[in-house]
Amino acid sequence: MFRRLNKGPERLLTIFVDGAPTSARPGDSVAAAMLASGRIGCRTTAVSGAVRGPFCLMGVCFECLVTIEGVASLQACMIPVREGMRIETKCGNRTFGT
Ligand code: FES
Repeated sequence: MFRRLNKGPERLLTIFVDGAPTSARPGDSVAAAMLASGRIGCRTTAVSGAVRGPFCLMGVCFECLVTIEGVASLQACMIPVREGMRIETKCGNRTFGT
């Protein structure tokens, strides 16, 4: 569904999404890296369990909440990837804190 426009040679970073090694480009947001790897879901809703994923990609909708390095409820679209970053998708209610 999502593909990169520029496929030139470049250095890739490795991030871990739910423990799975995933390639990302320097400068990608966490949400962009997840979408590019084929992951469309960041969390599920508490009531119906429906999968929710990045929608606006600009910090407005809060559909992209994930846990990064143990910090819960961060907006994946607003945080750039870093080498070795650990990201966990969320299930159920939003949690605050770690
Ligand atoms: S995708 Fe809308 S806030 Fe992140």
